[in-house]
Amino acid sequence: MASMTAELLNTISSTNAAAQRDLGIINYQASKTCWAFLEDDETFVKGIMGPIGSGKSVASCWNLFKWAQMQDVYKGVRRSRWAIIRNTYRELEDTTLQTWFDWFPRDLGLFRESKMSHTIRIENTDGTTMHAEFLFRALDRPDDIKKLLSLELSGAWINEARETPLAILDMLQGRVARFPPMREGGPTISNIILDTNPPDEDHWFYKMFEEKKPAGWKLYKQPSALAPNAENLDNLHPKYYQRLMANKTDEWIKVYVRGMYGFVKDGKPIYPEYNDTVHVSDDFIEYNPELTLWVGLDFGLTPAALLAQRDPLDGQWQILDEVVTDDMGAERFSEELNRKLREAEYRDATEIQIFGDPSGDTRAETDERTPYDILAANDIHASPAHTNDPVIRREAVAHQLTRLTHLGRPRLIISPKAKMFRKGMAGRYCYRRLKVSGEERYVDKPDKNIYSHICEAGQYLMLGAGEDSHVLNTSSGMSKNRVVKPSVNHTRRRKKKPISMPVVHHKSVRSRR
Ligand SMILES: Nc1ncnc2c1ncn2[C@@H]1O[C@H](COP(=O)(O)OP(=O)(O)O)[C@@H](O)[C@H]1O
Ligand SMILES: [Mg+2]
Repeated sequence: MASMTAELLNTISSTNAAAQRDLGIINYQASKTCWAFLEDDETFVKGIMGPIGSGKSVASCWNLFKWAQMQDVYKGVRRSRWAIIRNTYRELEDTTLQTWFDWFPRDLGLFRESKMSHTIRIENTDGTTMHAEFLFRALDRPDDIKKLLSLELSGAWINEARETPLAILDMLQGRVARFPPMREGGPTISNIILDTNPPDEDHWFYKMFEEKKPAGWKLYKQPSALAPNAENLDNLHPKYYQRLMANKTDEWIKVYVRGMYGFVKDGKPIYPEYNDTVHVSDDFIEYNPELTLWVGLDFGLTPAALLAQRDPLDGQWQILDEVVTDDMGAERFSEELNRKLREAEYRDATEIQIFGDPSGDTRAETDERTPYDILAANDIHASPAHTNDPVIRREAVAHQLTRLTHLGRPRLIISPKAKMFRKGMAGRYCYRRLKVSGEERYVDKPDKNIYSHICEAGQYLMLGAGEDSHVLNTSSGMSKNRVVKPSVNHTRRRKKKPISMPVVHHKSVRSRR
């Protein structure tokens, strides 16, 4: 155990005794990995991953505070501004903010609820003043995201980073190192912290830290909570992990207790009708350029595209391929999709039909164009699906899963190439479990994760192809009264039989680049 206190008090600056008491500074002792993590002021994007309860969040809180104290003095003041980010407002309030207040009590500074900002001003005994703003932001508030785009920050912390799209981190990298302004000496430390429970191996977090390993990124991994060198045990109930593990699956224990990468099923599948042995073909399915190439699109922070064809033999839907992104806006997505459509397999398509999310979520955009405009500028001519009703959307796909063609084949089959779509359909596209004890309850909206976007792209594809006609006929009013919310620019309702879309003009795309 190394003590954070000595470092803070002796080498950075001296906090006065009253503040020390208020802060509880004296009591913070970091465990081995947390300590190494806290000592690292060089790494631009610094991650800490480990079991649940291992002290990651607390170490991250302290890390920001330490950096605030390390800020160089300008006219007697150490000024800095930090964003603390969590995926949902609810978790931000219930978890992140509570952890923060646990160590840096509300009264230590000025907490403005309306702004979700905690401004801490401390008169240090060396005569300097620390003046730091800590801004708490949630990603389920579009307004928060918009504002993040214009924040001038010293640095930031993404709490439970596996719940946050890479697009947010990309964006943050451009917002840090901007405060204090250079004319006041600039920020002394302008790094980003990510703390998280382990995600699964499809996740950007894994790809970045374990595969791509960009310069300036580093991950600190804590040992298993069952290992002899397990961390933070002194601060947990002696039976904490033992109790936690009762009735849990091996996979759950692997991730939350042993702190290893893995996937934990913690939701209710949106397609219980899906059967991985029935709905996946053994071999890769080739695209036949004589057939219409159907493409479904989902936008938002992490766009996705699904490619399919229909076998003229019996109308079987064959899901061919996918474009799954996790760090892109509509512009880069358009390029990525273009690249896919120019691959040898697809470039001779005689007809392409592209349908997307009618709400054309523009949150990630910095300009006023809709994703449809951006796609069109890249020669991809997509139409909004005629509805965004979640029941109709789901049913349009589910309908394919429960029926056979007249040749006795499943109505939908997935080529192994569409990996993420397959995993999503198999249950990773799900309703998240609500954290209530007793009965099992789930939120009524699909969990937004790396699988949801590709699965929703599949829904828009089916809607575009008119596969919801059955739903409207059979759901006996279930969806009739739902409000259909088309986007501002795309209010027309598509006919069941879609019109032909021009083929992507690959040459013109190439010449533009
Ligand atoms: N260094 C520490 N000293 C005292 N208590 C700690 C320390 N680190 C963590 N804790 C406590 O341990 C518990 C789990 O810590 P937390 O940071 O929330 O874990 P994680 O984010 O890794 O799940 C919390 O109750 C927290 O207050
Ligand atoms: Mg935590």
